[in-house]
Amino acid sequence: MTVKVAVLASGRGSNFKALIDAVESRSCDAQIQALITNNPDAPAITVAKQAGIPVEIVQRKDFPDRGSMDDRIKVILDKYGVELVVLAGYMLLLKGKKLLDAYKMRIINIHPALLPAFPGMDAQNQAFDYGARISGLTVHFVDENLDAGPVIYQEAVDISGCKSSGEVSKKILEREHAAYPMIVDSFSKGHYAVDGRHVRFVPKPRS
Ligand code: GRF
Repeated sequence: MTVKVAVLASGRGSNFKALIDAVESRSCDAQIQALITNNPDAPAITVAKQAGIPVEIVQRKDFPDRGSMDDRIKVILDKYGVELVVLAGYMLLLKGKKLLDAYKMRIINIHPALLPAFPGMDAQNQAFDYGARISGLTVHFVDENLDAGPVIYQEAVDISGCKSSGEVSKKILEREHAAYPMIVDSFSKGHYAVDGRHVRFVPKPRS
């Protein structure tokens, strides 16, 4: 069954665009209800407008604290009947308890490294500087901690031949664009059972 999705993004929006393309080509059975962004200058907004997707801007400066900012995001998600929240380059940690509780195990993020290696900002740069020969990407559930929720999917990328962190980013991003829509699609075909840190896909029974 088509999964109703909202994307949260703060920047470029290339993963958001890859998801839109996958939905349009029917390789991802999702309906993108809205883009929510904290950044009124995010290029992702143009991507949304070109695809006719509603944009909701929720800026930190309009709220006394991060909790109430996230309460507003929850109201928006509820309004659109969102079933899965897809973080794609959203640069703020989610702090609102109401939001995190209501959408527990229904918020996912993509991180450009094999967690728990290289969490946080500039993961590709961290991997390059470290001299890692293999890095990759991780799709994980989101909790209140940074890049820390249970892992749904990981893919290794050989970065041993990369001569700059830019090359590392490019190589990983290419795989992100394939992997993230595939994982979003999986939510239309079943659910994930989470037991502590262990995540198992449970397909929907055939009818
Ligand atoms: C991606 O590298 C993603 O893994 C990370 O933020 C970046 C977002 O890029 N969380 P884009 O905005 O999707 O182009």
